[in-house]
Amino acid sequence: MQASVYRAYGPPDVLQLETVEKPTPKANEIRVRIHAATVNRTDCAMLLAKPFIMRFFTGLFRPRKPILGTDFAGTVEAVGADVTGFKVGDRVFGFDDNGLSSHAEYLTIDTAKGIAAIPENCSYEQATASIEGAHYAYNFINKVQLHPGDKVLVNGASGAIGSAAVQLLKYYGAVVTAVCNTKNIDMAKAIGADRVIDYLREDFTKDDQQYDFVFDAVGKSSFNKCKPLLKPGGTYISSELGWMAQNLFYAVFTPFFSRKKVKFPVPVDIPGSVRLVGKMMAEGKFKPVIDRTYTLAETAEAFRYVLTGEKTGNVVLHITANR
Ligand SMILES: NC(=O)c1ccc[n+]([C@@H]2O[C@H](COP(=O)([O-])OP(=O)(O)OC[C@H]3O[C@@H](n4cnc5c(N)ncnc54)[C@H](OP(=O)(O)O)[C@@H]3O)[C@@H](O)[C@H]2O)c1
Repeated sequence: MQASVYRAYGPPDVLQLETVEKPTPKANEIRVRIHAATVNRTDCAMLLAKPFIMRFFTGLFRPRKPILGTDFAGTVEAVGADVTGFKVGDRVFGFDDNGLSSHAEYLTIDTAKGIAAIPENCSYEQATASIEGAHYAYNFINKVQLHPGDKVLVNGASGAIGSAAVQLLKYYGAVVTAVCNTKNIDMAKAIGADRVIDYLREDFTKDDQQYDFVFDAVGKSSFNKCKPLLKPGGTYISSELGWMAQNLFYAVFTPFFSRKKVKFPVPVDIPGSVRLVGKMMAEGKFKPVIDRTYTLAETAEAFRYVLTGEKTGNVVLHITANR
């Protein structure tokens, strides 16, 4: 099969399209013929081995898995002897932030992991683009007690995590203010934001409203800058560690010493996120934002774009388009 392969950490130039062996499913696994996968910021961290801590998961000196890709959408092509819940021909999508080697024509995956059926009303591209950002966004929400009517500000509402966060928050009945730049204002409104702040025209940290939660989905602000925006008892969550890993420090100490808290969104329960997003898509309540699409042969180009930090929502690889 064809796959985008990297044998050393580095810039997208280290990626090569190669012919590699098609994987064989073990007894508890299915083999999926992949139709679409995303290139996302988790993949970028694995490609560059940045932050350095990534190497403890992906290989200290060189990548343990030579194929990147954390999500996929495709059709089941073979099932292992012990598999009961899936059959050949099923349309499935899934995610694993440890890597699924989905920048390839086929993958194998343990059926106990984060996999679900693709709702009938969804394309392969929509299914694969629905999960990475949503998983991290859901792991902001499941760290707090969110009630219908709570006011939440989402900074970076145009990214994969931010655009998913806006939709999940609306699903749970929150009142959402989205922060993005001028070109994404209409998109932010279309995905449900009640109010939009254009960060090119206005400093959102000077907003005169106060919020129950500030979700810094792109990690570009800080607890100290956002503190005036929080109601007493309010919580700030960021997708990044912050300067000198300050968000970890604040997450430990603010619950004891401050009425305004920081939580760190340690991501858990991938199968739960996949099920939730599948349900929301089936109900027409989640529509992933898709920016650009590339072929498998253009994977390095896709990474160059994602690494700019300026994508809107998600970047998709059409795997079958390359055949
Ligand atoms: N904690 C974790 O486990 C985890 C997992 C995955 C990712 N991350 C991190 O989470 C962050 C977000 O990931 P993502 O995939 O959502 O990113 P992304 O899709 O690459 O985010 C890009 C978006 O961020 C917006 N943006 C850039 N600078 C901004 C600013 N100063 N203010 C507001 N918006 C700004 C851009 O909008 P404009 O083009 O309009 O500026 C663009 O739409 C990344 O830093 C990533 O490394 C963390």
